[in-house]
Amino acid sequence: MSYSDAVYSKAYGVLDARRNRAVAEAEERKLKIYSEIPRVEAIERELASCSVKAARAVFAGGDAKEHLTLLSEQSKGLRAELEALLINAGYDKKALEPHFTCPVCEDRGTIELNNKTVTCNCFKELLKECACQEVNSLSPLNLSTFDTFELSYYPEAETADGVSPRRRMSQILNYCKAYANNFKADSKSLLMRGATGLGKTHLSLSIANELLNKGFSVAYVSAPDILFQLERAHFSYEYDKEQDLISTLTECDLLIIDDLGTEFATNYTNSQIYNIFNNRILRTKPVIINTNLTIKELENAYTQRFVSRVMGTCDKLDFVGRDIRPQKA
Ligand SMILES: Nc1ncnc2c1ncn2[C@@H]1O[C@H](COP(=O)(O)OP(=O)(O)OP(=O)(O)O)[C@@H](O)[C@H]1O
Ligand SMILES: [Mg+2]
Ligand SMILES: [Zn+2]
Repeated sequence: MSYSDAVYSKAYGVLDARRNRAVAEAEERKLKIYSEIPRVEAIERELASCSVKAARAVFAGGDAKEHLTLLSEQSKGLRAELEALLINAGYDKKALEPHFTCPVCEDRGTIELNNKTVTCNCFKELLKECACQEVNSLSPLNLSTFDTFELSYYPEAETADGVSPRRRMSQILNYCKAYANNFKADSKSLLMRGATGLGKTHLSLSIANELLNKGFSVAYVSAPDILFQLERAHFSYEYDKEQDLISTLTECDLLIIDDLGTEFATNYTNSQIYNIFNNRILRTKPVIINTNLTIKELENAYTQRFVSRVMGTCDKLDFVGRDIRPQKA
């Protein structure tokens, strides 16, 4: 999977900022500790001098072994004294060192593995997050949370088919909360179906917000908008942009496609929807699809293979009730 230079440079920017902050904070802590416990500064100087002496002994050649052993004993003693001083003063024993966000690569983004330089997992995660921020920049995230979802808008009384909208929606709300709570990289995919104004967008945004807060990468897109962007990139030969979007949609931890069925459908958009969905499903990466279309309408609008995939893999949440927009107005 590839991302554009813009996504990489944004991710590197975040990484640099993390590293610089960790180093600057350590420097600040160090000065504070030096002023509180002057012996700490002296020990650090002695440790540095031990290293210099050791390097010199090695450089001079001859039998440096005995000398080195002595120096190493000295350093060990000094380190133990240093740690004890820090701990006694209520600091962490590593208080003088930078506290990196990723201790594995020390916020460099790469690590050496079997003599090869490889990308650290933290940087892969960061790339996904930065790519998602790009596509989420136009989404109404933050506007909807579980806390503002009210069940009182849904009639209590059972409808002709014996369903109490309030009871059904209460189950759906609980399902969505549990989904967000227990989310994993291979959580189930969901199909949220129902008429307009019943809270599909509200609940899917609530899930998105919870997961973003937990540090998952979530791409929230509206089908007409993202498919238009993809198609425009494709037909104006902006293949980097097209690939960037496709990578973002296929790699993020959770993809939410809102308003499926309201896009201007073409062969291109239909095959992209299928490819992205299928690619994720094959790797058990979850997708949430929201739509007003009935199953029959989905079958008419999309290919048989797409609809049967969706029906076969998604947990189905059927929203019921009365349009909430006029009730709130
Ligand atoms: N249970 C609820 N409690 C409070 N506000 C709600 C609830 N359900 C929906 N809303 C609000 O009502 C409006 C419409 O809801 P929403 O956009 O989620 O509907 P929808 O099912 O996505 O509709 P559409 O199919 O037209 O996209 C939004 O402003 C949303 O925040
Ligand atoms: Mg909606
Ligand atoms: Zn790392």
